[in-house]
Amino acid sequence: MSDDFIYLDYAASTPVDPRVTRLMLECHESGFANPSSNHVAGRKSRAMIDNAAAQLAALLNVDPETLIWTSGATESDNLAIAGAARHRAHRGKHLVTLMTEHKAVTDVFGMLEKEGFEVTWLTPDESGHLDPAVFAAALRADTQLASIMYVNNETGVMQDIASLGGICREHGVLFHVDAAQAVGKIAIDLQALPVDLLSLTGHKFYGPKGIGALYVADRPDCHIEPILFGGGQQRQIRPGTLPADLIAGLGLAADIAASCLEADFAHLAALRRTLWRGIRDVEGVLINGDIDAGFPGILNVSVANVEGESLLLELEPLCVATGSACNSTNQEPSYVLRALGRSDLLAQSAIRFSLGRPTSESEVEFAARRYRDGVARLRDLAPEAAA
Ligand SMILES: Cc1ncc(COP(=O)(O)O)c(C=O)c1O
Repeated sequence: MSDDFIYLDYAASTPVDPRVTRLMLECHESGFANPSSNHVAGRKSRAMIDNAAAQLAALLNVDPETLIWTSGATESDNLAIAGAARHRAHRGKHLVTLMTEHKAVTDVFGMLEKEGFEVTWLTPDESGHLDPAVFAAALRADTQLASIMYVNNETGVMQDIASLGGICREHGVLFHVDAAQAVGKIAIDLQALPVDLLSLTGHKFYGPKGIGALYVADRPDCHIEPILFGGGQQRQIRPGTLPADLIAGLGLAADIAASCLEADFAHLAALRRTLWRGIRDVEGVLINGDIDAGFPGILNVSVANVEGESLLLELEPLCVATGSACNSTNQEPSYVLRALGRSDLLAQSAIRFSLGRPTSESEVEFAARRYRDGVARLRDLAPEAAA
């Protein structure tokens, strides 16, 4: 892919598919007009957006009218959670979420706590799963909203969204799912899944950055309030001039993903097996998450008596992550791994390998060798730490 690095950080961001880049360039030139403008050029931009909405809607099996364009999953999460909680506040102020959610979710709940909402923060088991019985027990008569992610960005652990959503329906609780790491990677049928609000972002499935969407179910009790103000676009829920080129790119990325979901999944599963086989004999190595279940594009491992940031340097030219990329300026041990019961030291040694459509067997074999050698070298340099 590149001469000077091997990219294994697809959970942080994916390269844009060249077909998507080509389409976006075309749209950049011919779809520059404001899609709200009622003239020929505006209608051209509008048509590109409508086409993309149909492509994304087909991937999720929803009506295109239920999709709201946003700047990415951070905005979608903020809009869904703050917008739904505030809209339903007169009915009750209790909300439920999981401690291992992305910051784009946890920080919104933190803000809502300051506004007077009460949040129950659930802990997953040590493999990262949320037990539906634990979830059901947390719901109360005044619970209005629950938010649980589909695929965890650090560990790849997948939650049982069908069961959790079913429980929400039984209790009349709105259910939001952060699916930033799931859309375009696993099959999601929103006619079959009991989900009310779902966040996604283009740059995790070979589309552009800076564009995402929020699915809002077409049900009378599923309203959200805007969090941005400034115009009537997108049914008064999300104002702002829509970028036809970025949206067209996301639409095509969704279309491409729909055609290769199964092949991608099988490819990633084979690669992850090779990677794990290559490193599982390293003394003291542990998987964070669940190798037998979950999204196969992520392998997160900790190792005893080795420090993650030093290991990251040893691993170059591999591009991998320690903890979450969104937290890379923060040297604290990952709160996600701490919630799985990992010690500070083990959490700090974590390396997240995340694989993608372009990843090859030889790249993961190289990565495994590099990991083994890197751990051995660090232990040689500081044998007393390894003792
Ligand atoms: C699970 C999850 N939610 C939300 C986000 C934020 O997405 P975006 O970068 O599109 O704002 C990410 C990105 O890392 C993510 O992995």
